[in-house]
Amino acid sequence: MIKAVIFDLDGVLTDTAHYHFQAWQALAHSLGIAFNEQDNEQLKGVDRLGSLRLILAKGQLSVDDATEQQLMAQKNAHYLKLIANMSEADLFSGVRPLFTALKQRGIKLAVASASKNADFVLQRLGIYNEFDAIADAALVKASKPDPEIFLQAAARLGVAPAQCLGIEDAAAGVSAINSAGMQAIGIGDAEVLHEALRVYPNIEALDIATLLTL
Ligand code: BG6
Ligand code: MG
Repeated sequence: MIKAVIFDLDGVLTDTAHYHFQAWQALAHSLGIAFNEQDNEQLKGVDRLGSLRLILAKGQLSVDDATEQQLMAQKNAHYLKLIANMSEADLFSGVRPLFTALKQRGIKLAVASASKNADFVLQRLGIYNEFDAIADAALVKASKPDPEIFLQAAARLGVAPAQCLGIEDAAAGVSAINSAGMQAIGIGDAEVLHEALRVYPNIEALDIATLLTL
């Protein structure tokens, strides 16, 4: 019986996954590294340093720590510009009614996001106070696909992992949910997210009655 739903943020509740892609692509191109949406699938859900290292590896480049820091700052400055005007209108359609329906059934809600910008985005979307727990990059050491962030969210909720359902748009995120011993729901491409129990094209398409029987 599901007692809690743990949501990824970027790409699940709002379209920030696309802004992360744009900012990483611009950085990769500035380094002379080809980078397209298919390459980006590998980065989804992965933290900032892990993402940078995947791009550098693709370009067979190695840089010192100071340069890594500078490149991450460059990407984040670009990303922050892209989300500067974000508002409640950027919340994906279907999210509010889903939250209401889950709360009516006594289901707890949490966020598990690898992003250091998660608080900012949740505030801008007007949903920061909707969650019983928030686990973000500041809380964990290991990046998805490690289950740590989902386990932290469950611990903060006081719900056993087996009674949690995780919702993710990233292959690394789905692996993290499975490794945490939770039920994984994918949002996006069924082929990319083949490890998920069920995959929906977007969050609005999610069928809550089916989910709660999982
Ligand atoms: C994840 C995104 O949620 O957060 C990744 O899927 C992103 O694309 C990662 O790189 C880290 O985000 P930030 O905001 O800390 O750079
Ligand atoms: Mg995501």
